[in-house]
Amino acid sequence: MTDSPEYKTIADFERAPDEYKMAVRKIVRSHAINELYGAQVFDEPAIELAPTPYAKWLTCRVAMEEYGHHVRFRELGLQIGLTDDEMSTKNKKPLSIFNYPLTKWEEFVTIKLLGDLAEILQVEDLLHCSFHPLRNLARSTMPEERFHADFGIQFGKELIGTAEGKAALQQAVDVYFPYLPAFFGAANSANNEMYRRLKIKIRKNEEMLEDYMGRARKAADTLGLSLPAAKQSAA
Ligand SMILES: [Fe+2]
Ligand SMILES: [Fe+2]
Repeated sequence: MTDSPEYKTIADFERAPDEYKMAVRKIVRSHAINELYGAQVFDEPAIELAPTPYAKWLTCRVAMEEYGHHVRFRELGLQIGLTDDEMSTKNKKPLSIFNYPLTKWEEFVTIKLLGDLAEILQVEDLLHCSFHPLRNLARSTMPEERFHADFGIQFGKELIGTAEGKAALQQAVDVYFPYLPAFFGAANSANNEMYRRLKIKIRKNEEMLEDYMGRARKAADTLGLSLPAAKQSAA
């Protein structure tokens, strides 16, 4: 189980087999792009939608951190042979959730509550990655991702204080949640099998999805919300 090699530095990475390099690049590229999409489509526009100066202040912090995640994944990407073009949102089809730009504050609270929870699971899966620079990056972004999910809980609690607020939050959950399970990829994915064989990632897509659904249900229960069914065709 533990006999596959570890790559502690960029110099070690350069000596890795081509398949390993390709697999790490795929993951770093996907994080660099998704962090940037998220910051552009959700976090930055949410500053304007935030209802109070306090909410704007914390939303600015979240936006800063999400852009920061992109910056750090991009830096690592450049070190391992990716180009800026490959990490640009212009050259990669987004996950479907990024096609629904925010119009309401409740939608942003939903994204942080349930979307960043999905991100936490993805980052957790890299905490023991055999490529140490990626493992270290995951470890350093984790506290911020936890803060984002907690931001969703805290502002969610504020919203459910009124019947209208709770209804608006439930409506946003109904719109956004169905797109989130697609974040975990397909069952029996060949890429996922490769990541696990190379000890880059630990869990199967389907295990992560099951765990996510349990944790999302718990977060929704905390706020007295219900979760709609996932979209079958979302990608
Ligand atoms: Fe992030
Ligand atoms: Fe986040």
